[in-house]
Amino acid sequence: MVSRVIPVEPFDLVIIGGTGDLARRKILPALYQRFVAGQIGKESQIIGAARSEMETESYRSFAAEAIREFTDTDEVKPRKLAAFLKLVSYVTLDAKGEAGWTTLSGMVQENRIRAFYFSVGPSLFGDLAKRLQKYGMAEDDCRIVVEKPFGRDLATAKELNRILARHFDESQIYRIDHYLGKETVQNLMAVRFGNMLFEPLWNSQYVDHIQITVAESVGVGGRGGYYDRAGAMRDMVQNHLMQLFCLIAMEPPAKFEPDSVRDEKLKVIRALEHVKPENIVRGQYDGDGQNPGYRNEVENRDSTTETFVALKAHISNWRWAGTPFYLRTGKRLRDRASEIAVVFKDAPHSIFDEDAGRHHNILTIRLQPNEGIELGVTIKEPGPGGMRLVDVPLDMSFAEVLGPDEADFPDAYERLIMDVIRGNQTLFMRGDEVEAAWAWTDPIIAEWQAAGTEPEPYDPGGSGPEEALFLMHRDGRRWREIKP
Ligand SMILES: NC(=O)c1ccc[n+]([C@@H]2O[C@H](COP(=O)([O-])OP(=O)(O)OC[C@H]3O[C@@H](n4cnc5c(N)ncnc54)[C@H](OP(=O)(O)O)[C@@H]3O)[C@@H](O)[C@H]2O)c1
Repeated sequence: MVSRVIPVEPFDLVIIGGTGDLARRKILPALYQRFVAGQIGKESQIIGAARSEMETESYRSFAAEAIREFTDTDEVKPRKLAAFLKLVSYVTLDAKGEAGWTTLSGMVQENRIRAFYFSVGPSLFGDLAKRLQKYGMAEDDCRIVVEKPFGRDLATAKELNRILARHFDESQIYRIDHYLGKETVQNLMAVRFGNMLFEPLWNSQYVDHIQITVAESVGVGGRGGYYDRAGAMRDMVQNHLMQLFCLIAMEPPAKFEPDSVRDEKLKVIRALEHVKPENIVRGQYDGDGQNPGYRNEVENRDSTTETFVALKAHISNWRWAGTPFYLRTGKRLRDRASEIAVVFKDAPHSIFDEDAGRHHNILTIRLQPNEGIELGVTIKEPGPGGMRLVDVPLDMSFAEVLGPDEADFPDAYERLIMDVIRGNQTLFMRGDEVEAAWAWTDPIIAEWQAAGTEPEPYDPGGSGPEEALFLMHRDGRRWREIKP
Protein backbone atom coordinates (compact mmCIF):
# COMPACT_ATOMS: atom_id res chain seq x y z
CA MET A 1 0.00 0.00 0.00
CA VAL A 2 1.49 3.34 -0.96
CA SER A 3 0.44 6.39 0.99
CA ARG A 4 -0.20 9.52 -0.99
CA VAL A 5 1.38 12.80 -0.04
CA ILE A 6 -0.62 15.67 -1.44
CA PRO A 7 1.50 18.83 -1.47
CA VAL A 8 -0.06 21.86 0.18
CA GLU A 9 -0.18 25.28 -1.44
CA PRO A 10 2.69 27.65 -0.69
CA PHE A 11 2.20 29.32 2.71
CA ASP A 12 3.74 31.63 5.27
CA LEU A 13 3.73 30.23 8.80
CA VAL A 14 4.81 32.52 11.61
CA ILE A 15 5.72 30.73 14.85
CA ILE A 16 5.26 33.35 17.54
CA GLY A 17 7.28 31.91 20.41
CA GLY A 18 9.62 30.41 17.83
CA THR A 19 12.47 30.04 20.33
CA GLY A 20 10.37 28.18 22.92
CA ASP A 21 10.17 24.56 23.96
CA LEU A 22 7.12 23.67 21.85
CA ALA A 23 8.66 25.15 18.69
CA ARG A 24 11.89 23.23 19.36
CA ARG A 25 10.37 19.88 20.26
CA LYS A 26 7.31 19.73 18.04
CA ILE A 27 6.65 22.48 15.50
CA LEU A 28 10.02 22.78 13.75
CA PRO A 29 10.62 18.98 13.56
CA ALA A 30 7.05 18.48 12.28
CA LEU A 31 7.57 21.05 9.51
CA TYR A 32 10.90 19.49 8.56
CA GLN A 33 9.31 16.03 8.28
CA ARG A 34 6.55 17.33 6.02
CA PHE A 35 9.18 19.07 3.87
CA VAL A 36 11.15 15.82 3.54
CA ALA A 37 7.92 13.98 2.68
CA GLY A 38 7.40 16.42 -0.20
CA GLN A 39 4.29 18.02 1.24
CA ILE A 40 5.81 21.47 1.74
CA GLY A 41 7.32 23.10 -1.32
CA LYS A 42 10.32 25.39 -1.59
CA GLU A 43 8.20 28.54 -1.99
CA SER A 44 6.81 28.39 1.54
CA GLN A 45 8.16 30.51 4.39
CA ILE A 46 8.56 29.64 8.06
CA ILE A 47 9.21 32.65 10.23
CA GLY A 48 10.27 32.29 13.86
CA ALA A 49 9.33 35.26 16.05
CA ALA A 50 10.16 36.04 19.68
CA ARG A 51 11.68 38.82 21.78
CA SER A 52 15.23 37.39 21.75
CA GLU A 53 17.60 39.34 19.54
CA MET A 54 18.75 36.94 16.87
CA GLU A 55 19.77 36.95 13.21
CA THR A 56 18.14 34.55 10.77
CA GLU A 57 21.39 32.56 10.53
CA SER A 58 21.40 31.94 14.29
CA TYR A 59 17.75 30.93 14.21
CA ARG A 60 18.49 28.48 11.42
CA SER A 61 21.19 26.93 13.64
CA PHE A 62 18.67 26.78 16.48
CA ALA A 63 16.14 25.08 14.18
CA ALA A 64 18.77 22.64 12.85
CA GLU A 65 19.71 21.61 16.38
CA ALA A 66 16.05 21.14 17.34
CA ILE A 67 15.40 19.02 14.25
CA ARG A 68 18.45 16.83 14.87
CA GLU A 69 17.43 16.33 18.49
CA PHE A 70 13.72 15.76 18.13
CA THR A 71 13.12 14.23 14.72
CA ASP A 72 12.09 10.60 14.98
CA THR A 73 14.11 9.32 12.08
CA ASP A 74 17.43 7.54 12.22
CA GLU A 75 19.27 10.21 10.40
CA VAL A 76 18.64 13.80 9.43
CA LYS A 77 20.14 14.20 5.96
CA PRO A 78 22.36 17.32 5.73
CA ARG A 79 21.22 18.26 2.22
CA LYS A 80 17.55 17.95 3.06
CA LEU A 81 18.09 19.92 6.23
CA ALA A 82 19.99 22.67 4.37
CA ALA A 83 17.16 22.87 1.80
CA PHE A 84 14.57 23.10 4.56
CA LEU A 85 16.48 25.81 6.42
CA LYS A 86 16.31 28.05 3.35
CA LEU A 87 12.59 28.36 4.11
CA VAL A 88 13.30 29.54 7.65
CA SER A 89 13.86 33.11 8.82
CA TYR A 90 13.53 35.05 12.08
CA VAL A 91 12.16 38.33 13.29
CA THR A 92 12.64 39.87 16.72
CA LEU A 93 9.18 40.82 17.90
CA ASP A 94 7.42 41.69 21.14
CA ALA A 95 3.77 40.68 21.55
CA LYS A 96 3.34 43.43 24.12
CA GLY A 97 5.04 46.24 22.23
CA GLU A 98 5.44 47.60 18.71
CA ALA A 99 8.96 46.24 18.10
CA GLY A 100 9.22 43.98 15.08
CA TRP A 101 5.66 44.17 13.78
CA THR A 102 6.32 46.37 10.76
CA THR A 103 9.20 44.10 9.77
CA LEU A 104 6.96 41.04 10.10
CA SER A 105 4.18 42.56 8.04
CA GLY A 106 6.73 43.23 5.29
CA MET A 107 7.86 39.60 5.39
CA VAL A 108 4.52 37.80 5.09
CA GLN A 109 3.16 37.84 1.58
CA GLU A 110 -0.28 38.82 0.43
CA ASN A 111 -2.42 36.51 -1.68
CA ARG A 112 -1.20 33.32 -0.11
CA ILE A 113 -2.05 31.25 2.95
CA ARG A 114 -0.87 32.91 6.16
CA ALA A 115 -0.94 31.13 9.50
CA PHE A 116 0.18 32.49 12.88
CA TYR A 117 0.99 29.85 15.47
CA PHE A 118 0.54 31.36 18.97
CA SER A 119 3.20 29.22 20.68
CA VAL A 120 3.21 31.46 23.75
CA GLY A 121 1.23 31.56 27.01
CA PRO A 122 -2.49 32.45 26.67
CA SER A 123 -1.95 35.77 28.47
CA LEU A 124 -0.39 37.03 25.20
CA PHE A 125 -3.21 35.93 22.87
CA GLY A 126 -5.07 39.23 23.15
CA ASP A 127 -1.95 41.33 22.42
CA LEU A 128 -1.08 39.15 19.46
CA ALA A 129 -4.57 39.24 17.99
CA LYS A 130 -4.74 43.01 18.40
CA ARG A 131 -1.38 43.64 16.74
CA LEU A 132 -1.98 41.23 13.87
CA GLN A 133 -5.01 43.32 13.06
CA LYS A 134 -3.31 46.68 13.64
CA TYR A 135 -0.47 45.75 11.26
CA GLY A 136 -2.83 44.48 8.56
CA MET A 137 -2.18 40.76 8.92
CA ALA A 138 -5.57 39.61 10.23
CA GLU A 139 -7.43 39.49 6.91
CA ASP A 140 -10.23 37.01 6.37
CA ASP A 141 -8.05 34.30 4.90
CA CYS A 142 -5.39 34.23 7.64
CA ARG A 143 -5.45 31.57 10.37
CA ILE A 144 -4.32 31.49 13.95
CA VAL A 145 -3.33 28.37 15.87
CA VAL A 146 -3.66 28.30 19.65
CA GLU A 147 -2.36 25.74 22.10
CA LYS A 148 -3.70 24.33 25.29
CA PRO A 149 -4.34 25.27 28.02
CA PHE A 150 -7.38 27.08 26.66
CA GLY A 151 -8.42 28.67 29.93
CA ARG A 152 -8.39 27.15 33.40
CA ASP A 153 -12.17 27.23 33.85
CA LEU A 154 -15.30 28.30 32.01
CA ALA A 155 -14.89 31.98 32.81
CA THR A 156 -11.30 32.20 31.52
CA ALA A 157 -12.10 30.11 28.43
CA LYS A 158 -15.02 32.42 27.63
CA GLU A 159 -12.79 35.42 28.06
CA LEU A 160 -10.18 33.97 25.68
CA ASN A 161 -12.87 33.16 23.13
CA ARG A 162 -14.22 36.69 23.46
CA ILE A 163 -10.78 38.26 22.97
CA LEU A 164 -10.04 36.17 19.88
CA ALA A 165 -13.52 36.76 18.46
CA ARG A 166 -12.89 40.50 18.51
CA HIS A 167 -10.29 40.11 15.76
CA PHE A 168 -10.96 36.74 14.13
CA ASP A 169 -13.89 34.74 12.88
CA GLU A 170 -14.33 31.26 14.42
CA SER A 171 -13.44 29.78 11.01
CA GLN A 172 -9.95 31.31 11.36
CA ILE A 173 -9.21 29.90 14.84
CA TYR A 174 -7.52 26.49 15.18
CA ARG A 175 -7.48 25.27 18.81
CA ILE A 176 -5.07 22.36 18.91
CA ASP A 177 -5.59 19.17 20.88
CA HIS A 178 -2.78 16.98 19.63
CA TYR A 179 -4.66 13.79 20.63
CA LEU A 180 -7.01 14.48 17.73
CA GLY A 181 -4.07 14.39 15.33
CA LYS A 182 -3.20 10.80 16.17
CA GLU A 183 -3.69 8.27 13.39
CA THR A 184 -5.68 5.87 15.55
CA VAL A 185 -8.06 8.55 16.74
CA GLN A 186 -9.04 9.22 13.17
CA ASN A 187 -9.14 5.51 12.56
CA LEU A 188 -11.67 5.27 15.33
CA MET A 189 -14.01 7.28 13.13
CA ALA A 190 -13.13 5.13 10.10
CA VAL A 191 -13.85 1.95 12.04
CA ARG A 192 -17.13 3.25 13.42
CA PHE A 193 -18.52 4.93 10.34
CA GLY A 194 -16.78 3.08 7.50
CA ASN A 195 -17.95 -0.40 8.53
CA MET A 196 -21.41 -1.86 8.94
CA LEU A 197 -20.12 -4.27 11.56
CA PHE A 198 -19.79 -2.10 14.64
CA GLU A 199 -22.32 0.72 14.50
CA PRO A 200 -25.43 -1.45 15.06
CA LEU A 201 -23.80 -2.75 18.26
CA TRP A 202 -22.54 0.65 19.41
CA ASN A 203 -25.11 1.34 22.13
CA SER A 204 -26.23 0.43 25.62
CA GLN A 205 -27.99 -2.70 24.45
CA TYR A 206 -24.74 -4.39 23.44
CA VAL A 207 -21.96 -2.43 25.13
CA ASP A 208 -21.42 -3.19 28.82
CA HIS A 209 -19.06 -0.29 29.43
CA ILE A 210 -16.24 1.73 27.88
CA GLN A 211 -12.84 2.39 29.44
CA ILE A 212 -10.52 5.19 28.41
CA THR A 213 -7.02 5.15 29.88
CA VAL A 214 -4.24 7.65 29.29
CA ALA A 215 -1.35 6.53 31.48
CA GLU A 216 2.06 8.14 31.71
CA SER A 217 5.10 6.64 33.39
CA VAL A 218 6.83 10.00 33.88
CA GLY A 219 6.18 12.53 36.64
CA VAL A 220 5.64 16.26 36.18
CA GLY A 221 9.32 16.94 35.43
CA GLY A 222 10.05 20.54 34.52
CA ARG A 223 6.36 21.51 34.24
CA GLY A 224 5.84 21.52 38.01
CA GLY A 225 4.94 25.20 38.33
CA TYR A 226 2.19 25.04 35.73
CA TYR A 227 1.02 21.57 36.72
CA ASP A 228 0.59 22.39 40.39
CA ARG A 229 -1.93 25.08 39.43
CA ALA A 230 -3.70 22.78 36.97
CA GLY A 231 -3.76 19.09 37.99
CA ALA A 232 -4.83 16.06 35.97
CA MET A 233 -8.48 17.12 35.67
CA ARG A 234 -7.61 20.38 33.93
CA ASP A 235 -4.45 19.17 32.17
CA MET A 236 -5.80 15.91 30.74
CA VAL A 237 -9.47 15.13 31.42
CA GLN A 238 -11.05 18.40 30.30
CA ASN A 239 -9.32 18.24 26.92
CA HIS A 240 -7.61 15.02 25.77
CA LEU A 241 -9.84 12.45 27.48
CA MET A 242 -12.93 14.49 26.74
CA GLN A 243 -12.08 14.56 23.03
CA LEU A 244 -11.60 10.78 22.93
CA PHE A 245 -14.82 10.35 24.88
CA CYS A 246 -16.71 12.48 22.35
CA LEU A 247 -15.43 10.57 19.34
CA ILE A 248 -16.33 7.21 20.84
CA ALA A 249 -19.79 8.30 22.01
CA MET A 250 -21.00 10.73 19.33
CA GLU A 251 -23.76 10.06 16.83
CA PRO A 252 -22.71 9.57 13.20
CA PRO A 253 -22.17 13.02 11.69
CA ALA A 254 -23.98 13.65 8.42
CA LYS A 255 -20.63 14.30 6.74
CA PHE A 256 -16.99 14.11 7.67
CA GLU A 257 -16.60 17.84 7.70
CA PRO A 258 -15.69 20.26 10.47
CA ASP A 259 -19.01 21.52 11.75
CA SER A 260 -20.88 18.24 11.32
CA VAL A 261 -18.29 16.41 13.44
CA ARG A 262 -17.98 19.19 16.01
CA ASP A 263 -21.75 19.55 16.36
CA GLU A 264 -21.99 15.86 17.29
CA LYS A 265 -19.11 16.09 19.76
CA LEU A 266 -20.73 19.09 21.40
CA LYS A 267 -23.99 17.16 21.86
CA VAL A 268 -22.11 14.45 23.78
CA ILE A 269 -20.55 16.96 26.18
CA ARG A 270 -23.89 18.66 26.73
CA ALA A 271 -25.55 15.32 27.49
CA LEU A 272 -22.96 14.40 30.14
CA GLU A 273 -24.36 14.01 33.64
CA HIS A 274 -22.66 15.66 36.57
CA VAL A 275 -20.24 13.19 38.16
CA LYS A 276 -20.99 12.69 41.84
CA PRO A 277 -18.05 12.72 44.28
CA GLU A 278 -18.43 8.97 45.01
CA ASN A 279 -17.76 8.30 41.32
CA ILE A 280 -14.42 10.09 41.22
CA VAL A 281 -11.03 9.19 42.66
CA ARG A 282 -8.19 11.68 42.81
CA GLY A 283 -4.65 10.53 43.48
CA GLN A 284 -1.19 11.97 43.95
CA TYR A 285 2.01 9.96 43.47
CA ASP A 286 4.41 9.27 46.31
CA GLY A 287 8.16 8.95 45.96
CA ASP A 288 10.24 5.81 45.94
CA GLY A 289 13.96 5.11 46.31
CA GLN A 290 14.66 6.48 42.84
CA ASN A 291 12.23 9.33 42.28
CA PRO A 292 10.90 12.08 44.48
CA GLY A 293 7.20 12.19 45.29
CA TYR A 294 5.00 14.81 43.66
CA ARG A 295 5.13 17.26 46.55
CA ASN A 296 8.93 17.24 46.59
CA GLU A 297 9.06 17.53 42.83
CA VAL A 298 6.94 20.67 42.79
CA GLU A 299 8.45 21.93 46.06
CA ASN A 300 5.05 22.39 47.63
CA ARG A 301 4.75 20.29 50.81
CA ASP A 302 1.03 20.94 51.16
CA SER A 303 0.01 20.53 47.54
CA THR A 304 -3.40 18.88 47.07
CA THR A 305 -3.12 18.86 43.29
CA GLU A 306 -4.14 15.55 41.73
CA THR A 307 -1.75 13.68 39.42
CA PHE A 308 -4.33 10.93 38.86
CA VAL A 309 -8.06 10.93 38.17
CA ALA A 310 -10.41 7.99 37.68
CA LEU A 311 -14.11 8.62 37.19
CA LYS A 312 -17.33 7.04 36.08
CA ALA A 313 -19.42 9.15 33.70
CA HIS A 314 -22.86 8.72 32.17
CA ILE A 315 -24.40 10.23 29.06
CA SER A 316 -28.11 11.04 29.17
CA ASN A 317 -29.27 10.10 25.70
CA TRP A 318 -31.02 7.20 24.00
CA ARG A 319 -27.88 5.53 22.75
CA TRP A 320 -25.96 5.45 26.02
CA ALA A 321 -28.49 5.58 28.87
CA GLY A 322 -27.22 3.19 31.55
CA THR A 323 -23.79 2.53 30.00
CA PRO A 324 -20.93 3.67 32.23
CA PHE A 325 -17.83 5.29 30.77
CA TYR A 326 -14.77 4.86 33.00
CA LEU A 327 -12.02 7.41 32.41
CA ARG A 328 -8.58 7.18 33.98
CA THR A 329 -5.40 9.19 33.61
CA GLY A 330 -2.32 9.62 35.74
CA LYS A 331 1.38 10.22 35.99
CA ARG A 332 4.09 7.88 37.29
CA LEU A 333 2.02 4.81 36.48
CA ARG A 334 3.33 1.45 35.37
CA ASP A 335 3.74 2.30 31.70
CA ARG A 336 3.08 4.89 29.08
CA ALA A 337 -0.04 3.42 27.54
CA SER A 338 -3.20 4.97 26.15
CA GLU A 339 -6.18 3.03 24.93
CA ILE A 340 -9.93 2.99 24.58
CA ALA A 341 -11.63 -0.34 25.30
CA VAL A 342 -15.22 -0.99 24.25
CA VAL A 343 -16.31 -3.94 26.39
CA PHE A 344 -19.33 -5.73 24.93
CA LYS A 345 -21.88 -7.59 27.02
CA ASP A 346 -21.80 -11.35 27.57
CA ALA A 347 -23.92 -13.43 25.21
CA PRO A 348 -27.43 -13.51 26.69
CA HIS A 349 -27.40 -17.28 27.09
CA SER A 350 -24.50 -19.71 27.06
CA ILE A 351 -25.05 -22.99 25.24
CA PHE A 352 -21.76 -24.29 26.65
CA ASP A 353 -21.41 -25.89 30.05
CA GLU A 354 -19.85 -24.10 33.02
CA ASP A 355 -16.31 -25.30 32.20
CA ALA A 356 -16.36 -23.25 29.04
CA GLY A 357 -16.45 -20.06 31.13
CA ARG A 358 -18.16 -16.74 30.32
CA HIS A 359 -16.60 -14.54 27.68
CA HIS A 360 -17.19 -11.24 26.01
CA ASN A 361 -15.74 -9.27 23.13
CA ILE A 362 -13.54 -6.26 23.64
CA LEU A 363 -12.63 -3.79 20.92
CA THR A 364 -9.42 -2.04 21.90
CA ILE A 365 -8.19 1.09 20.21
CA ARG A 366 -4.54 1.61 21.17
CA LEU A 367 -3.29 5.16 20.89
CA GLN A 368 0.22 4.70 22.20
CA PRO A 369 2.52 2.94 21.96
CA ASN A 370 2.00 0.53 19.01
CA GLU A 371 -1.01 2.30 17.52
CA GLY A 372 -3.57 -0.21 16.37
CA ILE A 373 -6.96 -1.74 16.83
CA GLU A 374 -7.64 -5.16 18.32
CA LEU A 375 -10.87 -7.12 18.52
CA GLY A 376 -11.01 -9.85 21.16
CA VAL A 377 -13.11 -12.78 19.98
CA THR A 378 -13.99 -16.05 21.67
CA ILE A 379 -13.01 -19.33 20.00
CA LYS A 380 -12.64 -22.94 21.00
CA GLU A 381 -9.38 -23.69 22.72
CA PRO A 382 -7.48 -25.80 20.19
CA GLY A 383 -6.83 -29.45 21.03
CA PRO A 384 -8.76 -32.44 22.23
CA GLY A 385 -9.68 -31.01 25.65
CA GLY A 386 -13.39 -30.72 24.94
CA MET A 387 -15.38 -27.53 24.34
CA ARG A 388 -13.36 -25.00 26.29
CA LEU A 389 -13.42 -21.40 25.19
CA VAL A 390 -10.57 -18.96 24.95
CA ASP A 391 -10.34 -15.26 24.02
CA VAL A 392 -7.95 -14.43 21.21
CA PRO A 393 -7.17 -11.08 19.62
CA LEU A 394 -7.88 -10.26 16.00
CA ASP A 395 -5.01 -7.84 15.89
CA MET A 396 -4.95 -4.98 13.42
CA SER A 397 -1.56 -3.67 14.42
CA PHE A 398 -0.93 -1.05 11.76
CA ALA A 399 2.76 -1.87 11.59
CA GLU A 400 1.99 -5.51 10.79
CA VAL A 401 -0.91 -4.97 8.42
CA LEU A 402 0.48 -2.03 6.49
CA GLY A 403 4.21 -2.73 6.78
CA PRO A 404 6.68 -0.68 8.81
CA ASP A 405 6.96 2.17 6.28
CA GLU A 406 3.24 2.69 5.98
CA ALA A 407 2.77 2.50 9.73
CA ASP A 408 5.43 5.14 10.26
CA PHE A 409 2.71 7.72 10.72
CA PRO A 410 3.27 11.42 10.73
CA ASP A 411 3.40 12.83 14.23
CA ALA A 412 0.14 14.44 15.36
CA TYR A 413 1.66 17.92 14.94
CA GLU A 414 2.65 17.17 11.33
CA ARG A 415 -0.91 16.22 10.47
CA LEU A 416 -2.49 19.10 12.36
CA ILE A 417 -0.21 21.81 10.98
CA MET A 418 -0.89 20.56 7.45
CA ASP A 419 -4.63 20.68 8.24
CA VAL A 420 -4.21 24.33 9.27
CA ILE A 421 -2.58 25.07 5.92
CA ARG A 422 -5.33 23.16 4.07
CA GLY A 423 -7.94 25.06 6.05
CA ASN A 424 -9.55 21.95 7.52
CA GLN A 425 -10.86 22.46 11.08
CA THR A 426 -12.33 18.97 11.62
CA LEU A 427 -9.63 17.95 14.08
CA PHE A 428 -9.61 21.22 16.00
CA MET A 429 -11.82 22.20 18.91
CA ARG A 430 -14.49 24.81 18.38
CA GLY A 431 -14.99 27.54 20.96
CA ASP A 432 -18.37 26.24 22.17
CA GLU A 433 -16.93 22.71 22.60
CA VAL A 434 -14.16 23.99 24.86
CA GLU A 435 -16.65 26.00 26.89
CA ALA A 436 -19.01 23.03 27.26
CA ALA A 437 -16.13 20.86 28.46
CA TRP A 438 -15.25 23.44 31.11
CA ALA A 439 -18.91 23.75 32.11
CA TRP A 440 -18.84 20.01 32.90
CA THR A 441 -15.43 20.13 34.64
CA ASP A 442 -15.89 23.25 36.77
CA PRO A 443 -18.53 21.91 39.23
CA ILE A 444 -16.46 18.77 39.81
CA ILE A 445 -13.41 20.83 40.74
CA ALA A 446 -15.56 23.21 42.81
CA GLU A 447 -16.90 20.26 44.85
CA TRP A 448 -13.35 19.05 45.56
CA GLN A 449 -12.36 22.50 46.67
CA ALA A 450 -15.42 22.88 48.89
CA ALA A 451 -14.85 19.46 50.49
CA GLY A 452 -11.14 20.22 51.01
CA THR A 453 -10.23 16.57 50.64
CA GLU A 454 -6.69 15.44 49.91
CA PRO A 455 -5.93 13.24 46.89
CA GLU A 456 -5.24 9.56 47.67
CA PRO A 457 -1.50 8.82 47.69
CA TYR A 458 -0.28 6.09 45.34
CA ASP A 459 2.96 4.26 44.72
CA PRO A 460 4.83 5.06 41.54
CA GLY A 461 4.99 2.29 38.94
CA GLY A 462 1.51 0.88 39.66
CA SER A 463 -2.02 1.56 38.48
CA GLY A 464 -2.92 4.43 40.79
CA PRO A 465 -4.67 4.45 44.15
CA GLU A 466 -6.60 1.39 45.34
CA GLU A 467 -9.78 3.44 45.48
CA ALA A 468 -9.67 3.58 41.67
CA LEU A 469 -9.81 -0.22 41.57
CA PHE A 470 -12.84 -0.18 43.90
CA LEU A 471 -14.59 2.27 41.57
CA MET A 472 -14.79 -0.60 39.08
CA HIS A 473 -14.92 -3.57 41.47
CA ARG A 474 -18.07 -2.36 43.17
CA ASP A 475 -19.76 -2.45 39.74
CA GLY A 476 -18.48 -6.00 39.18
CA ARG A 477 -15.96 -4.82 36.58
CA ARG A 478 -12.23 -4.29 36.42
CA TRP A 479 -9.77 -2.01 34.73
CA ARG A 480 -7.67 -3.40 31.97
CA GLU A 481 -4.02 -3.80 32.78
CA ILE A 482 -1.84 -0.79 32.01
CA LYS A 483 0.68 -2.19 29.56
CA PRO A 484 2.23 -1.11 26.29
N1 LIG B 1 6.14 22.73 25.47
C1 LIG B 1 5.17 21.86 25.22
O1 LIG B 1 5.39 20.67 25.00
C2 LIG B 1 3.74 22.32 25.20
C3 LIG B 1 2.73 21.35 25.03
C4 LIG B 1 1.40 21.78 24.96
C5 LIG B 1 1.11 23.12 25.06
N2 LIG B 1 2.10 24.03 25.23
C6 LIG B 1 1.72 25.46 25.30
O2 LIG B 1 2.38 26.16 24.24
C7 LIG B 1 2.74 27.48 24.65
C8 LIG B 1 4.25 27.67 24.52
O3 LIG B 1 4.89 26.73 25.35
P1 LIG B 1 6.47 26.57 25.44
O4 LIG B 1 6.70 25.36 26.27
O5 LIG B 1 7.10 26.64 24.10
O6 LIG B 1 6.87 27.86 26.29
P2 LIG B 1 8.32 28.51 26.44
O7 LIG B 1 9.39 27.48 26.25
O8 LIG B 1 8.30 29.30 27.70
O9 LIG B 1 8.43 29.50 25.19
C9 LIG B 1 7.71 30.70 25.12
C10 LIG B 1 8.09 31.42 23.84
O10 LIG B 1 7.39 32.65 23.80
C11 LIG B 1 8.30 33.72 23.55
N3 LIG B 1 7.77 34.92 24.18
C12 LIG B 1 7.54 35.14 25.50
N4 LIG B 1 7.05 36.37 25.69
C13 LIG B 1 6.95 36.96 24.46
C14 LIG B 1 6.52 38.22 24.00
N5 LIG B 1 6.09 39.18 24.83
N6 LIG B 1 6.55 38.45 22.69
C15 LIG B 1 6.99 37.51 21.82
N7 LIG B 1 7.42 36.32 22.19
C16 LIG B 1 7.41 36.03 23.51
C17 LIG B 1 9.61 33.22 24.15
O11 LIG B 1 10.76 33.81 23.60
P3 LIG B 1 11.40 35.18 24.13
O12 LIG B 1 11.58 35.02 25.61
O13 LIG B 1 12.67 35.29 23.37
O14 LIG B 1 10.45 36.24 23.79
C18 LIG B 1 9.55 31.76 23.72
O15 LIG B 1 9.94 31.64 22.36
C19 LIG B 1 2.23 27.60 26.09
O16 LIG B 1 0.94 28.15 26.09
C20 LIG B 1 2.16 26.15 26.57
O17 LIG B 1 1.22 25.96 27.59
C21 LIG B 1 3.40 23.67 25.29
